[in-house]
Amino acid sequence: MTSLPGRQVRGFLSLRKGRAPSLQGRRRVLAISVHEAGIIYRLKKLCISLTSQSDHPLLVLCGTKNKITNSEHWIPKLYFRIASCLLSCCDLKCRVFKNKLIFTKLSSCFCGIIPPVAQQLHRENIQRIVREALSLSKVSPSELSAIATTIKPGLALSLGVGLSFSLQLVNQFKKPFIPIHHMEAHALTIRLTNKVEFPFLVLLISGGHCLLALVRGVSDFLLLGKSLDIAPGDMLDKVARRLSLIKHPECSTMSGGKAIEHLAKQGNKLHFDFKPPMQRAKNCDFSFSGLQHVIDKTIMQKEIEEGIEKGQILSSAADIAAAVQHTIACHIAKRTHRAILFCKQRNLLSQSNAVLVVSGGVASNLYIRKALEIITDATQCTLLCPPPRLCTDNGIMVAWNGVERLHAGLGILYDTEGIRYEPKCPLGVDISKEVGEAAIRVPRLKMKI
Ligand code: KG4
Ligand code: ZN
Repeated sequence: MTSLPGRQVRGFLSLRKGRAPSLQGRRRVLAISVHEAGIIYRLKKLCISLTSQSDHPLLVLCGTKNKITNSEHWIPKLYFRIASCLLSCCDLKCRVFKNKLIFTKLSSCFCGIIPPVAQQLHRENIQRIVREALSLSKVSPSELSAIATTIKPGLALSLGVGLSFSLQLVNQFKKPFIPIHHMEAHALTIRLTNKVEFPFLVLLISGGHCLLALVRGVSDFLLLGKSLDIAPGDMLDKVARRLSLIKHPECSTMSGGKAIEHLAKQGNKLHFDFKPPMQRAKNCDFSFSGLQHVIDKTIMQKEIEEGIEKGQILSSAADIAAAVQHTIACHIAKRTHRAILFCKQRNLLSQSNAVLVVSGGVASNLYIRKALEIITDATQCTLLCPPPRLCTDNGIMVAWNGVERLHAGLGILYDTEGIRYEPKCPLGVDISKEVGEAAIRVPRLKMKI
């Protein structure tokens, strides 16, 4: 068992401004994460802080991702997208600076539509942001223990900007370089806030990820299963958009997933019978796009029945939301149940003290958490989730991964010759085939949520 690194670092998180302790002996990691083009639904809250703080909003062409939002709704705010993201980086940075960890998350919020433009904007801004980060932190580059940068997986054009800029810094200040895997960073974040020993099971569910993995060490992962198509957050966003929840007075400011969760509370899940996907496949893989098409068809049918146009809100929207959420929760819970049983059967997890960590934006869904709780109760596991701001993509997780690696002495490069970014990169060793071959039958549990 590896002991937890950086107890001091964790302790810093509770420090108030101006009460930072001496830095002696502590790890100071500059983390740079430019791995995507951005996500539109986050902008709203970012823009609110932006309008009062930024005097240099950038004008950017827009496009939409498959989120609840549509461009009409967002156009006035899109002007601020780049600047808002940079500001949000600053917010996060300040929080971390107090703790003497430094990170920068740069994201152009370009919705993935025009990557070269996002790349150009990243290039234009990265130097200033890192300079501001360092100056705000009052830590000089020479005091840094290392520079940690996301190099995989992600959008090639974005990863390239982060990597080449980081390498310039590394060469200029003669610092060790720590390449970071985005999913590994997600998976280990729980160790920043909770005392969790290896091995533990992690379920990552967000708009971009969906996987189950066994975490055996800082850089030792076994991939048990993943989504064969889209991620659950992506699907919820698509359904919410199809239901036009952006026009719903109670949901207009929410992400798709949050809107579905909110509306589901007012609905009756029994009014629609959507079948959980892949019921016959006895593995730990997931699938959401087939279910999404079934839901699309149902919505279309209901629109005809209710005599309304596409774009108007169905009277049965809440029932659909409740049924969708329940079906997804059952699907995720079943695959996770099988992963726990597989790991226990193979003695990969403790029989009585196993931990399941759930992270990613969808992990904030309380209904899905309840479903997972039923599974962990039935299998004597402990269910843990990082706090919401650490569940979603953030820079702290990249910095923390750097700290973990420094303590473990793993993956620290003193020579960066030949280092490349990798847009597609699986997590750990893929044993999902073996999991499928084990064909574990999962006992039926009453999903009374
Ligand atoms: O981790 P995240 O912030 O970003 C990435 O996708 O990487 O996750 C965002 C996703 C979105 O698809 C959003 O709809 C979903 O998480 N989400 C939720 C909830 N809050 C956010 N899904 C279900 N229930 C929620 N309460
Ligand atoms: Zn992520």
